[in-house]
Amino acid sequence: MNKMKIDHIGYLVKNIGKAKSVFCALGFQPVSEVCRDEYRDVDICFLEKDGYTIELVSPFSDDSVVADLIKKVKNMPYHICYEVSDLSSGIADLRKEGFVPIGEPAPAPAFGMRRVCFLQSARIGMIELLESGKE
Ligand code: NI
Repeated sequence: MNKMKIDHIGYLVKNIGKAKSVFCALGFQPVSEVCRDEYRDVDICFLEKDGYTIELVSPFSDDSVVADLIKKVKNMPYHICYEVSDLSSGIADLRKEGFVPIGEPAPAPAFGMRRVCFLQSARIGMIELLESGKE
């Protein structure tokens, strides 16, 4: 298994501005502006507290990858993202553990166009893999 480092916890929210205010009241500091991801039709911003990074994700259209999910679950954490140095090899490792990729790896504007891939496990649900920033 390749080394996997936790990068963030993805938190689905209906209103990113209002959610951000609440997290700030809880002591989180914003560490990014709100970034629009046109690939997935979501707005994203990052907050940090005590070494933890939370990614707020909010769909802005019914075509969003999380449009159906937010109708079901409303506001809640929904994935842990792990950084790996090699995305293909990381995906291969996880396939052996029963994970199935949800779509192809694709660039993520919120991460400077580094590639991400979501995977599903029947046992623990969804996780995200993020390619490390090595050049
Ligand atoms: Ni994420």
